[in-house]
Amino acid sequence: MNSPLPIRNAAQVSDEDIETQLSIGLRNRWHALCPSGFVADKPLPLYRLGLKLVLWREPDGRVNVQEDYCPHRGAPLSLGKHLGDRLACIYHGVQVGRDGTVISVPGSPGCKLEGQKAVRTFPCREFAGAIFIYVGDALHPEPVAFNPPPQLVSDEYERFLCYTEWHTPYRVLVDNNMDPMHGTFLHKQSHSMAVGDTQAKFSIRNTDIGFVFEKSTQRDVNFDWSEWCDSGAMYVRLDIPYPKSAGPGGSFGIISMSTPIGPRMSAHFFWRNRKVTGWQRDAWKFLYRTRLEARHWHVLEQDRVLVEGLEMDAGDHEALYDHDTGLVRVRRWMREEARKQLTALAEAGLQKSFEKQILTK
Ligand code: FES
Ligand SMILES: [Fe+2]
Repeated sequence: MNSPLPIRNAAQVSDEDIETQLSIGLRNRWHALCPSGFVADKPLPLYRLGLKLVLWREPDGRVNVQEDYCPHRGAPLSLGKHLGDRLACIYHGVQVGRDGTVISVPGSPGCKLEGQKAVRTFPCREFAGAIFIYVGDALHPEPVAFNPPPQLVSDEYERFLCYTEWHTPYRVLVDNNMDPMHGTFLHKQSHSMAVGDTQAKFSIRNTDIGFVFEKSTQRDVNFDWSEWCDSGAMYVRLDIPYPKSAGPGGSFGIISMSTPIGPRMSAHFFWRNRKVTGWQRDAWKFLYRTRLEARHWHVLEQDRVLVEGLEMDAGDHEALYDHDTGLVRVRRWMREEARKQLTALAEAGLQKSFEKQILTK
């Protein structure tokens, strides 16, 4: 007789579990951690995604990202010494290599800790001026494919990474980026968002990796659409048309990613990009640095003040209308992904132990 199919018991995953998972970020994705320039000679401690991490760069430039936890007695490896291809814990000198293997226990050579792969190590990539890691759950330790959008890696685009850390949950920024109408009001004084209609109707168009939330009543005038993308990493893409006075190139694009630091603290990556090549690229870079960058920081400051001013429980008392359909759909998307991940772990008996979660700040 065939053995019965496993019974899916979604009840094993509570709303609270889903909320906890979302507060530290979905698993089985690539996430941006910090700008490349953060990782120089010294080991760098970082809290991200419910994890206590140490980042270090080898002499050849390679970056390693590991749990900031010595397998001997738990000292932060980030306090230790960087020995080129390994870290040495400051407490008793245990040396850990780039793959998490204990290479040496100087105080007790030959002890059983030597040779053990004892430190969690994360697949890591560096591009577009930032460090990314893959964080998988216990069922998905191998990294999923992530082909970054051309705006982040293609020579056809010039990009500037704008990085911020704000006192707000990371999902508030995702909401903000999926809300084109805030451009019309919050940023109405801005140099490039003062035009167009102040009223709009929206529609949703599915794509292979997410959906586009777009005005059906106005296009290529202002911040008229946002695209939610989930293809190995989650990000939002949007475009803001530029007047001729803004120099050569296509419209001004933004790719944004947000990463949790703690329940009320988050890291945000905005890659401001423009399709431009050749001499026009140099002209654009010059124009951007000298005339536009300060204005963009000013616009971003409007966002910061607004989102940091939102009450933590604002989401419990919202009166949403049809302009919020995009962000509602992303919230639902993320909740469903969290539910799927946690249900699979629960069915495998891994619900409570799949991740050591360190919630800070
Ligand atoms: S705690 Fe790291 S060597 Fe002892
Ligand atoms: Fe904004």
